[in-house]
Amino acid sequence: MDDFSEIINWNNVFKQSENFKTNKLCKFAFIENFFQEDFYKKLFNSYPIFDDSWDHIVTYDKNHWSKKWAGTTTHGIVQDGDDKSLSNEWNLLKKYASTKEFSDNFKKFSNVSVEKLKHFHFIGMSQGGFQLPHVHNVGPSTLVMMLYFSKDWMKGDPGATYIASDLDESSIIFEPYNLDNTLVIFQDSQHAIHGARYLEKDVQRKALQITLEGWSLESGWSGGDPDKIIEERSKNLVEL
Ligand SMILES: [Fe+2]
Repeated sequence: MDDFSEIINWNNVFKQSENFKTNKLCKFAFIENFFQEDFYKKLFNSYPIFDDSWDHIVTYDKNHWSKKWAGTTTHGIVQDGDDKSLSNEWNLLKKYASTKEFSDNFKKFSNVSVEKLKHFHFIGMSQGGFQLPHVHNVGPSTLVMMLYFSKDWMKGDPGATYIASDLDESSIIFEPYNLDNTLVIFQDSQHAIHGARYLEKDVQRKALQITLEGWSLESGWSGGDPDKIIEERSKNLVEL
């Protein structure tokens, strides 16, 4: 039986619950000292280095590094099972993030009806990285979490995921500068606009993205199955 009791500082999480629930328009929160100190050190020291096992994604709207969990489908739905290329702590965290206890705690924290782990992947950024402001808007039962593993971030420096009130960087309402054992969490909606400002310095922004979502046996993911959506779209393509 795995022991998940020394992973997360749940007290710190629940301290921000009211704040999250009462935010107008976009429901979000920022949590410091998310992981218990000892566990965080081990995750930090074994965060995977940016190498060939990552995809460096450069498109008009973003420039970042992505590393999927072993067995993840093309469009990102994480599967059960370990990733042998990663440390025991990363495997234990992934296992914990897949439990009902983990989803139920975040359901209680947010009042968002999440049921299951959908995404669990590393998102890195190096010099020149950015992501334009965007929304997913796949439904009300999705929680997006960005967890950070970068020390010595300077106040005011770009690169972390911000929340904005419009599709424009001048409308940023929150951008974190402590990226050492912290979490930004938001509920998906048409108002959950987010992105990352252009990273000018030669530093690495190391993050993990976790998405929890509504799910049922009858209807699947509340925000849709990305593999099916893409398959449908290709069937409906009309030649111009
Ligand atoms: Fe996004």
